[in-house]
Amino acid sequence: MIKIIIFLSIILNIFFIFFLNKKKIKKIIFKKKIKEINISKVDKIFELEKISPNLLGLKEDVIIKSFCIPPDNKVIGMTSDYEAWILASLSKYSDKIFEFGTCSGKTTFLMALNSPEKAKIYTITLSKDMTKGLTKEKLDNKTSFRNLINESIYEKFLFSGSKVEKKINVIFENSLNFNDNEYKENFDLIFIDGGHTYSVIKNDSEKSFNMLNKNGIILWHDYVPGKESAKDVVKYLHTISKEKKIYNIKNTSLCFYKNNV
Ligand SMILES: C[S@@+](CC[C@H](N)C(=O)[O-])C[C@H]1O[C@@H](n2cnc3c(N)ncnc32)[C@H](O)[C@@H]1O
Repeated sequence: MIKIIIFLSIILNIFFIFFLNKKKIKKIIFKKKIKEINISKVDKIFELEKISPNLLGLKEDVIIKSFCIPPDNKVIGMTSDYEAWILASLSKYSDKIFEFGTCSGKTTFLMALNSPEKAKIYTITLSKDMTKGLTKEKLDNKTSFRNLINESIYEKFLFSGSKVEKKINVIFENSLNFNDNEYKENFDLIFIDGGHTYSVIKNDSEKSFNMLNKNGIILWHDYVPGKESAKDVVKYLHTISKEKKIYNIKNTSLCFYKNNV
């Protein structure tokens, strides 16, 4: 009897330790294969400036117009506030922006609020109706496919009716059918956050490489090894990082590629 109790308590302890350290354990099992770098290496605008010996401050370049989505406003499929700040800061210096995956339009709105007056933002998305009849490719992760359907629910966005809406062009189209050749070497900033299945992430990335201008930057969202719904994003990024210089921004799920790095 005592042996059984000891055995059960060991098992319980193992479970306890596992759940308490789930994030840490996942980090050990699912290693990042993409080099992590500091935000200041993405662009000089993120370099910190000394205010006093124990305080570093931000440059004027990264002071942005922002908003928060209160948790009660159950908006789905969003970037974290830190990631959104990075994208909003980069958009200040981008005239031509393309986003794969609009969802609620949180990031689109931030980029519109912060980009130059003459900026043009294209964002491609699926409406609910457009997901009818979509089928999963053999290679595609099941959870990512389910999320792709569940996140395609918006036809009006957080920026709808706002002053900056005029900068935004929403394209309701499956990105698999999108003709990227019309926009060859056109964009300064491309954000890839559409379907997270292998077939879509590969398609969106290849089209982005074609559409990026020589000084441009591509950012991918959801590089989270060990997260089931991000499995295909991680797999694809690990594959292309063998031939392209792709980096992960420290403390974020963002990866980036720059033509001139
Ligand atoms: C994760 S949400 C995007 C979140 C948004 N970028 C943000 O930061 O708030 C994913 C979006 O991708 C869109 N999407 C998924 N697969 C797509 C496809 N094949 N073509 C176009 N849009 C797609 C969905 O309709 C959804 O709007």
